[in-house]
Amino acid sequence: MALPRTVDWQGDAATGRLVIIEQTLLPTELKLIELTELDPVIDAIQRLAVRGAPALGAAGGYGAVIALRSGLGDAGLERLAAARPTAVNLRWAVERVRRVAEGDPERALEEARAIDAEDVRTCRAIGEHGASLIKDGMGVLTHCNAGALATAGMGTALAPMYVAKERGTKFHVFADETRPLLQGARLTSFELAENGVDVTVISDSMSAVVMRDGKVSLVITGADRVAANGDAANKIGTYGVATLAKAHGIPFYIAAPRSTFDGTLASGDQIPIEERNERELRFVGDTRTAPDKTKVFNPAFDVTPAALIAGWITEDGILKASDIAGWLASSP
Ligand code: MRU
Repeated sequence: MALPRTVDWQGDAATGRLVIIEQTLLPTELKLIELTELDPVIDAIQRLAVRGAPALGAAGGYGAVIALRSGLGDAGLERLAAARPTAVNLRWAVERVRRVAEGDPERALEEARAIDAEDVRTCRAIGEHGASLIKDGMGVLTHCNAGALATAGMGTALAPMYVAKERGTKFHVFADETRPLLQGARLTSFELAENGVDVTVISDSMSAVVMRDGKVSLVITGADRVAANGDAANKIGTYGVATLAKAHGIPFYIAAPRSTFDGTLASGDQIPIEERNERELRFVGDTRTAPDKTKVFNPAFDVTPAALIAGWITEDGILKASDIAGWLASSP
C-alpha cells in the first residue's frame, strides 16, 4: 500500500491548508487531517499528530505560511518555533521562512515548498549512502520512528533500509517498541510492513538479548539534534541502545540531514531536552499503569555521546567524527 504523504500543502498561500497524517491514530486508523489556523498546527505538533525532526521542519515551514497569512507576525512564528524544543528542524524551518518571506505569505509558501522538496531529496541521498552498510543476511535494529512518517520523504534511519530493499538485499529489521508512546511499534513496524520490509517488533528491554544472540549486526537511528562534536539527541532510550551496541561490538549509526545538525552547540550537554506530560507514563492509552501518588520523570529524548557513534549518515555521505566540523563549515 502506498501511504499518503506525512506532511503536505494543498492550495495557494491565501486559502490553502496543511494536510498531515494524524499519527496518534496509527496503526489502527490511517486518517488525514487539514489544518488552516495556527493554534491547531501547534496543537498537532505538541500532541505528536505530526512528529519526527524533518517532518516537524516541513510542518513548521507550512505552519509559518498560516501564521503570516493570519497576520500573527513574529509572535505567531515564535510560538510555532517553540512548540517543541529538541528537534532543531522546527525552529530552523520557521526561521528560514521568516527570513525569506519578509511577511509575504506567497513567498513563504515558495520557501516552505522548497524545504519540503529538499527533504525528499535529502532522505533519498541518506538512503543511497546508508544502504551500503546493509548486507545480505544482516539484522538491523532501530529505535523510535525515523522513516517516511518522520520526514517529508522516505525517512532518515529507515531510508537505507528502503534503498537496500530496492537493491535486492535480504535483511531483517528489529523495531524497538519505544516506550512510552510506542513510535517503534505503532509507526516503524507499520510503515516497514506496508512497504514490504521484513520487521519484528521487540520491547525496549529485549534489545540486549537480540544483540547478545547475534541477531543484530547494525544499528541505525535518526536524530532530533546533533551538536558540533557529533553528540546526538534522539528519542529516549537511544543512549541505552547505543551503549548496548558498543558492549556487543555492533556499529551504531545516526542518520540525519544537515538541517538536524546544530553547529552553534559545542556538545550534546547544550541540547534542550523536552519533558512531556506525566500522563504518558501513568497510562497506556486509557489504562492506568502507575498510581498518581508516585513521581514521574518523562524526558522525551536523550543524548548519545559521539564516542558511541560509528558514523553519521548524511545526504553528503557517511561522516566520521573528525569530518563533522569541516562539513558544517562548508554547508552553513
Ligand atoms: O517525539 P518524536 O516522535 O517526535 O521523536 C522522534 C524521534 O526521536 C526520531 O527518531 C527523530 O526525530 C528522527 S526523525 C527522522
